[in-house]
Amino acid sequence: MGLRTISDHIMDIVQNSFNAGATKVTLKIEQNKNWFCFQVQDNGKGMDQEQLSRIFDPFYTTRDPRIRRVGLGLPFLKQAAEMTGGSIEVKSTKGVGTIVKACFNTNHVDCQEIGDLSDSLSTLLISSNDVELTVYRSKDTRSYSISNAELREVLKDLSSPFAIKFVYQVVEELEKSVIEEVPK
Ligand SMILES: Nc1ncnc2c1ncn2[C@@H]1O[C@H](COP(=O)(O)OP(=O)(O)OP(=O)(O)O)[C@@H](O)[C@H]1O
Ligand SMILES: [Mg+2]
Repeated sequence: MGLRTISDHIMDIVQNSFNAGATKVTLKIEQNKNWFCFQVQDNGKGMDQEQLSRIFDPFYTTRDPRIRRVGLGLPFLKQAAEMTGGSIEVKSTKGVGTIVKACFNTNHVDCQEIGDLSDSLSTLLISSNDVELTVYRSKDTRSYSISNAELREVLKDLSSPFAIKFVYQVVEELEKSVIEEVPK
């Protein structure tokens, strides 16, 4: 039931920012031995107190009902993070933007799989046409960052088959560089 992996949650939360009309989105992913945390900050339309008080209600959505949307993204994320002893925090200001931060204890038996993070990040980077998306990723002492602005500078158009393949390969290499064990 629900979003199956942490990468699915990341996709959903970043897509919420796109849907909120953000022109700038920053995704930070920090991981260590016990914790996997991600934060999405946007300059979208934001929410007032009334809306904020309802975002964890299942099926609360302000999206057009003609679009396939159910309003379960945030409730599922809250449930999945809290089940591991982790947490979710949402700060928002109407007309200014929103910050969503969630942490999962990856050692907890009920923690979902991280999933295919490089695939999710690549998909977000190539599908964020009118949005400036920057990703900061760290695991223990290693890190990388990548943005669609940088990719566009090199590739011009991110929708060509060549560019899409290139982005998936680059992100996969970057992910490997932070994930792989350092030989002793
Ligand atoms: N970054 C954001 N900026 C402004 N409003 C937001 C943001 N994220 C969520 N919301 C509000 O919270 C509601 C619920 O979000 P949630 O992700 O739970 O559902 P949804 O995006 O509407 O549908 P889905 O189930 O497909 O994710 C949204 O419809 C929107 O009104
Ligand atoms: Mg959503």
